[in-house]
Amino acid sequence: MLNSPDHAKMRRSLGNIFNRSSLAILQPAIEASAKELLDTFTQELGEGPADFCATVAEELPVITIGQWMGLPPSDHGLLRSLTHDQVHTQELFPTPSERALSDAATARLREYFTELIRERRRSPGQDPVSRWLQIWDTLEADRAAADEAVHSLALFMILAALETTSHVLSSSARLLLEHPHHLESLRGHPELIPAAIEEVLRYDPPIHMISRIASEDTELGGVPVREGEMVQLMVGSASHDPSQFVQPHRFDISRRAPHLAFGGGIHYCLGNALARLEATVLVTALLKRPLRLRISAPPQWEQRIAFRRMTALHLALS
Ligand code: HEM
Repeated sequence: MLNSPDHAKMRRSLGNIFNRSSLAILQPAIEASAKELLDTFTQELGEGPADFCATVAEELPVITIGQWMGLPPSDHGLLRSLTHDQVHTQELFPTPSERALSDAATARLREYFTELIRERRRSPGQDPVSRWLQIWDTLEADRAAADEAVHSLALFMILAALETTSHVLSSSARLLLEHPHHLESLRGHPELIPAAIEEVLRYDPPIHMISRIASEDTELGGVPVREGEMVQLMVGSASHDPSQFVQPHRFDISRRAPHLAFGGGIHYCLGNALARLEATVLVTALLKRPLRLRISAPPQWEQRIAFRRMTALHLALS
């Protein structure tokens, strides 16, 4: 919710956190986590249908971000469930009980990150939070203001990174299993997996709605918008716009079409390369296994508009 110059200052302070070299450092750990999660999932499949969301897709993003930020694995479950509750507030029409759930989660997350910052002040490490504290100490005269800025950054990173990435992981599994000819072609040509992930992002983007407040009177697609009015940009719908995509409701991994899943402009997703890497690593590892899978029950979804969330994807051996 920031504009320049505050937004530029925040974004500059983070640096290029997920550039080629930092991703190359993170990749082996992501591969190791994906292998471990798929080992557990394979074991579960030996006993009958298993939930890919619970065992794999919900886990990889929190393990990845948790390791990157240096958060203890024992906190992963708490962070995951707080983010599920918190995002209600970003929905189009949250109910009063959803808003209450979201407020409670925000308060608990604030406490968690306040404690984290206190601890990183006491014993700084090589992790991003310690680095951001060093940077913000040079940007703010006041230590409390520096702590507040780093607090927002750390909290936002967790909220931005978990459900979104989980969704692209579970959607990749679902869409490839629903389109076995694409799945088989990727087994033979794993170099095409990144392009297939782009089509998953277009076909079923994790974020379907982006909000903006007009800073001046304007017109958008022929619709007048007055200063101060909120506009909900339905980017999920834009991904299926027949004037932009041929047969938009067809899942086609050879499409190579640009999409809006990571937004656009100055707020373009900072974590896009990490999310793409996690998805590529996981799909590659999954397809390397001699597993023949099928969807054994219809996927379950959270009833939402803005943030997509598949809550269960039961798979079985065919
Ligand atoms: C598939 C996974 C992801 C999707 C679909 C996604 C999508 C988006 C979108 C649509 C925006 C723009 C929001 C707007 O314009 O208001 C955004 C911003 C952002 N995302 Fe992501 N995101 C994903 C993963 C991640 C990850 C893994 C991280 C961090 C580790 C991350 C960090 C951020 C940050 C910091 C911003 C704000 C950028 C700014 O305002 O300058 N995202 N993301």
